[in-house]
Amino acid sequence: MIDLHAHILPGVDDGPATWAAAIELCRQLVSQGVTGVVATPHFHPGGYPDTGHVLELAAELSDKLRSAGLPLTVYPGAEAYLVPELPQLVAAQAVLTLNNAGRYLLVELPLEEIPSCTENVIFSLMLDGITPILAHPERNARLRDKPEILITLVERGALVQVNAGSLVGEFGTRVQKFATDLVRQGMAHFLGSDAHCLRKRPPLWPVVMPQLEKLAGQEAVLALTINNPAALLAGTEDFTSYEHPFPLVQESNFWRRVLSRLLGKKTDYFL
Ligand SMILES: [Fe+2]
Repeated sequence: MIDLHAHILPGVDDGPATWAAAIELCRQLVSQGVTGVVATPHFHPGGYPDTGHVLELAAELSDKLRSAGLPLTVYPGAEAYLVPELPQLVAAQAVLTLNNAGRYLLVELPLEEIPSCTENVIFSLMLDGITPILAHPERNARLRDKPEILITLVERGALVQVNAGSLVGEFGTRVQKFATDLVRQGMAHFLGSDAHCLRKRPPLWPVVMPQLEKLAGQEAVLALTINNPAALLAGTEDFTSYEHPFPLVQESNFWRRVLSRLLGKKTDYFL
């Protein structure tokens, strides 16, 4: 599988502090079935690491993993905090897009609020040919209260990356509920571990995968962890959708409206 969101580069954010810790984290990813990982260090306002340095670290990590016999492909990237000047920062190459390909940007929202500039930033990025991928929207309190805001952003062209750990309660029951809803309703495009270190924020793929299959079926497992991230890295935009394999008889009217709106028609999922 391909992990689209992980803090595996040493000394650039709150991920591993040393090369030894970075390699141990990668060893854990490999042992959990990950074959490719995008290194996404935090890009915060006032604290942007030099993009050239990030590219060098990703290349150096690849070399070290090869030497250690660990079959893990590392792609450079960033987790960019949403600020009004983000489109300009991307255009100036002060923030890395995923795989440095100039097509997709992993965008982090604050945990509590939705900044007033959010729609404008999303729109500007799209105009520049950059598709924003919202990192773990299930962790944002405002989106949990008003999921229609997320729907609007997706309708504007944003994609959604849910944290794998959210599905198994890593961030509490409310986050788990919203993450589960997003996955079950086909509102998630990718999963990522958002791993930071083995002690505090380890990757949880062996626990998450059975839960994901139980929630949304094997088709969703393939789409969210293999096909869609592979399409993203290949630049084909050939993302696969999936349908919940079971009748969603317990779902609320809200999600019925969401699906109808997204599909442009009434759905019979809720019969
Ligand atoms: Fe992250």
